[in-house]
Order: sequence, then structure tokens, then C-alpha cells
Amino acid sequence: MIGVKCLFVVIALYGVSADWWEHEVFYQIYPRSFADSDGDGVGDLIGIKQRLGHIKDAGINSTWISPIFKSPMVDFGYDISDFTQIYSEFGTVDDFKELSDEAARLGIRLIMDFVPNHTSDQHEWFQLSLNRTEGYEDFYVWVNGTLDSEGNLQPPNNWISNFGNGAWTYDEGRGQFYLHQFSPKQPDLNMRNPKVLQALKDVMKFWLDIGVSGFRVDAIPFFYEDIELRDEPRTYDPTATPNDYKYLNHIYTLNQPETYDLIYEWREFLDNYSRETDNVTRIMMTEAYADIQETVLYYGDGERKGAHLTFNFFLLTDLNINSTAYDFMFTINKWISYLPVQYVSNWVVGNHDNPRVGSRMGAERIDGINMLVMFLPGVGVTYYGEEIGMLDGYVSWEDTKDPIGLTAGPQKYQAVSRDIERTPFQWDDSKNAGFSKGNSTWLPVASNYKTLNLKAEKEASQSHYKIYQQLIELRKITTMKEGELIVKALNKNVLTALRYLPGHESYVYVFNIGANTELVDLSHYVEIQNQLEVVLTSVDASLPKGTQVSKQFNVGPYEAYILEVSPATTA
Ligand code: GLC
Ligand code: MG
Repeated sequence: MIGVKCLFVVIALYGVSADWWEHEVFYQIYPRSFADSDGDGVGDLIGIKQRLGHIKDAGINSTWISPIFKSPMVDFGYDISDFTQIYSEFGTVDDFKELSDEAARLGIRLIMDFVPNHTSDQHEWFQLSLNRTEGYEDFYVWVNGTLDSEGNLQPPNNWISNFGNGAWTYDEGRGQFYLHQFSPKQPDLNMRNPKVLQALKDVMKFWLDIGVSGFRVDAIPFFYEDIELRDEPRTYDPTATPNDYKYLNHIYTLNQPETYDLIYEWREFLDNYSRETDNVTRIMMTEAYADIQETVLYYGDGERKGAHLTFNFFLLTDLNINSTAYDFMFTINKWISYLPVQYVSNWVVGNHDNPRVGSRMGAERIDGINMLVMFLPGVGVTYYGEEIGMLDGYVSWEDTKDPIGLTAGPQKYQAVSRDIERTPFQWDDSKNAGFSKGNSTWLPVASNYKTLNLKAEKEASQSHYKIYQQLIELRKITTMKEGELIVKALNKNVLTALRYLPGHESYVYVFNIGANTELVDLSHYVEIQNQLEVVLTSVDASLPKGTQVSKQFNVGPYEAYILEVSPATTA
């Protein structure tokens, strides 16, 4: 009797098939740098369309695309001047339809970047707001200045923009300051105005009707600011100068309570859209650099649902080239500990705002880290180029384009500019790495492209790319989808993890993050009862695929392995 009952429980638990996005790998395309079809040195939509075959070949079925909308490109598309038009150098709405038809044919989903916190100062809404045109007076955050003791006009408080310098800019015509949490050319929308919220929903509806599968929502911590406009306190960071964002502790300008309500409301909007159309889930992935409690709250508060996924940036923000296996374990478990069990995990190690993983963590650790991201439960995220192990490029001051770099100036730009992680995709060893037939490219191609490129990696017997493809295949195995996770650091250099599911093969991940050979002992796992077989390795690993090992074996410097354990014959 008890046995039958157990069986039902097992069917109930594992028989429910997951929704399309729950085990997905999302591939981030940065459109300026992916593929240029017309030779102007800037990537475009037709370029993406022509290269969808690569995405398919890698094994990817879902992408998210950084903004492609009409924009003066001060912040490379994150300053939008029309949410429903395409930036001319990227193409037209018809090109987008062509791209999305081709994607649909290949079974690839497109997630759009949605940037609701701010618009470009060239957006019609801002132009109308400047003139106080009826209906648009309060579309942005306008505040009177104050006079100091010498009679000079000063901004209403001490807030600093994320890109450096004050967060307020004075407009002579209107005679008021407007708020911008990013560049002065990116005025913040007033999220407390119901007309703004309606206009933003209309934007989402526009793209949903065209057929997108959801949105990556930009910069959500910045949606609301303290209504009393209180000054923010200083941080204790002695390295910060008064114009640095880190000079202040942003208790009044980040993650304010109303933000959560808005995210929950948008979730309802997306769910309703699906219900009213085809019942296919449209997902929301949110971008919030926040502490762990604030981050997981974007998923929902127990009663209301929020984002399907809120990016887990902790592998990126909390680890660096000096991190030990204990740090890795702690960072992974931090996420697992705080994420309520009903939500789906996700793992991010790179994007267009942070140095590339190989440059940040060491090129010799690329495979080990790609393997980790894919091994952990839930959703994996890949920034374009991570599948081939691209590194940051070199960008001189003369070539610098990123507004953060430009604001920092020639002495300091290298520490902060995001151009280095945005260099063109390295397709092959031909001119401009096969990215563009033009004479020059908007950012220089990284100098290592002759040897580090997709074509070479496809031809090599072992490569980052081939490992990546196999990882995507491995993720289709039931244990990798449904299995439990245990993470153990065996010493400061050896990180291991186990995925197991009763009655199925278990999988073990082993990564030597250090420069010396380590004797690994898996006896620490009571779950492992049998011999193990190597099913995947980092490039040039000493134990080839297919090797049978016992629970003790040597792992060379920076080597990473995934091993399969057969299910125990007797429990
Ligand atoms: C997000 C984007 C970043 C952009 C900022 C302002 O953080 O990822 O690239 O600069 O928002 O829109
Ligand atoms: Mg082009």
C-alpha cells in the first residue's frame, strides 16, 4: 500500500511538465556587436537573422536582445526616443518581423529589452513635458531648485547619477530641475503618474502583439525615489569622490517599496495577455543589482507573483579572480538559501555592463565556469561570446564610446568603461573577425580574433564551444532538470557539486580553480555509491571522456569535469 502511495507521489512530483522557460538557456545578443549585414560597422537585425543558425547550432532556443529601438545612442540604445520604432542603423520594423519569422521557423524565442525607467531626452514625451504640454506636464520628475546663501540656484538634494555627477539637470525653459538616475540625456519617467504607467503598458502590448515571448526589464531598482526627496547619507568608502555614485548610500533612490507593486502588476498584465490569447507564458526577467533579500522579492511576495526570473548576479558581483572554492560555495548557497523553493533559479556570469568572465576570473577558468552555470539548477544565461570564451577587448581612450567611460575621463576610463566587453563577436579569422565587411567597426575587434573565433573552435577537436554545446545537451537529462543540488568545497581550490534524483543517474561537477594538481576525494558524498565515468571535461583535461574513476582521483590545474554515477542497484 505504502509503495503505491509513494509511486503516486513520485508521479505527482515529476509527472508535471515544466513550462517552456524553466530550464532554458537564454542567450543575450548585444545587437551593435553581433553581426553587421550592411558593412557600416554596426551590427543590425538582418545580421542577427543571418546568424540565427549559430544560435541554433549552439543548442539555444531563447534569446534576449538588448534594445533595438529608436535612439540617439548616447547609452547605446538604453536611451530610447521611440519605443515602437527601430533604430535606423539596426533596420526597420519589417526587418524585425523578418527576424522574428526566421526565429520562429527555427524555434528560437525572442525576449525584448524593455527600458521603462527613463527615455531619451529626444523622446516626444520629454519634448512635450519641457513645454508643459497638457497631459505631459508630470511625465518626468520635475522639481524646483533651492537658492543657497549666495543666491545661487541649487538642485533639490544631493542625489548622484549612476553614471557619475549630480542626478539633476536644470532646464532653463521650464525653470525646473529634472531627475536622471543615468545620463542627463536619460530623464527618469515619473512612475507615480498613472498616464505614464498606461503608456508603458501600451508599449508592452505593442511588442507582444508582434509576437515577442516576453521582456527583460531594465534598471528596475531605479523606478521610484523618495517622495520627500531626502538627502542620501554618505558611504564609508574612502576611495569615493563626491561625484562618484558610490559616494552615497542609496537608501532613497533604489528598490523603494512601490517598485515591487509595479512589478507584480506587470506580471498580472503579462499573465492576462497570455490568458486572453494563446495561453503561452510571456516571461518577465528583471535586472536589479540589489542585496539578496531585495532581489528575491522581485520574484513575488508569497501572495503576489512578480518576475519569472530576476537575474542572479551574485556569481558576478561576489566573486573575483582571488575567490576560493569556499567563496564559490557560499555564493551559490546564498542564492539557494534565500530563493523560496517555488521559484526558478538562474545564473548569470556576464552581460554588457561587466567585464567578461574570462577576463574577470582568469581565461584558464572559462570552461569550469561555463560548466558550473550549466550544471546548477534552473535557467542559465549566456552573454554573446561566452560560448567561445571571448575575452575583453582593448579599447583606447580615442575609441571610447561608453558614456560611463567618457564621464570618467582619459585617466580613469579604463577602470569603468563598458566598451571592453562589447567588442564585436569573433566569427572567424577573416577581416573584422567576420563581423563586418566594412572598413571599420564601431568598437575595435579584440586582437586575439585570429585564433579565438567560432570557426576555429568548430574545427578544433576540443574547444570552449564544443564543451558549451555538450553542456546544453547534458541539461536535457532528467536529473539535470529535476535533480537536487548539493555543493561542497573540498578545500580552498576544489569546488564540487552533485545533482541527484532517486532512481536516476547522478552527476558530479568537479572544478580545480587553482594552479596545482589536487587529489579529489568524493567519499564526502554519501550519495555516491558506485564508480564514476567522465562525461565532460574542460579543454585538454588529463582524464579523457569515458575514463572510469573511483571516488579518489587527481585533477590538474584549472581542470573541470562532469562525471556520471550510475544509480545504485540497491538502496
Ligand atoms: C541597465 C543597462 C545598462 C544601462 C542602464 C541604463 O543597467 O543594462 O546598460 O546603461 O540600465 O539604462
Ligand atoms: Mg549595419
